[in-house]
Amino acid sequence: RMDLTPYEHLGGEAVLSKLVTTFYAFVKEDDTLSPLFPDDLTETARKQIQFLTQFLGGPSLYTDEHGHPMLRARHMPFPISQQHATAWLQCMEKAMDAIALTGSLREFILSRLTMTAYHMVNTADEPW
Ligand code: HEM
Repeated sequence: RMDLTPYEHLGGEAVLSKLVTTFYAFVKEDDTLSPLFPDDLTETARKQIQFLTQFLGGPSLYTDEHGHPMLRARHMPFPISQQHATAWLQCMEKAMDAIALTGSLREFILSRLTMTAYHMVNTADEPW
């Protein structure tokens, strides 16, 4: 349907919140990613819901509260390698599996997140 944004097609706030909450549960269990994140992911998830809402064509919740996303700059305090980007995307795929997001909408969202995730890489892989 060409008349819906990806955000609407997904199911809006309810489904996006479920996806993001599930995603961070997988991040917390991931030995590559969890050392980078705070113990309490409540605020992290809240900001990610705001960001992905506007990333997928919904209201500009993130920018309204935090200003321009400047995502690569906001990630510079964290050493992010290709291994982290791959692990991040694997957690997102597991979250998509868990909420049964399938088909062309899943592929569209994943392809956009793949570009964004590798754009965050700012550090070489560890060779071990
Ligand atoms: C914040 C890691 C990819 C969106 C963060 C934080 C970490 C992190 C450690 C700070 C969490 C906190 O202090 O609460 C990573 C890693 C990635 C990655 C390892 C692997 C490539 C992405 C991608 C997106 C994204 C692909 C968007 C699609 C965000 C947002 C924030 C954030 C919106 C909150 C920024 C703020 O403080 O306002 N990320 N991230 N990240 N990340 Fe990522």
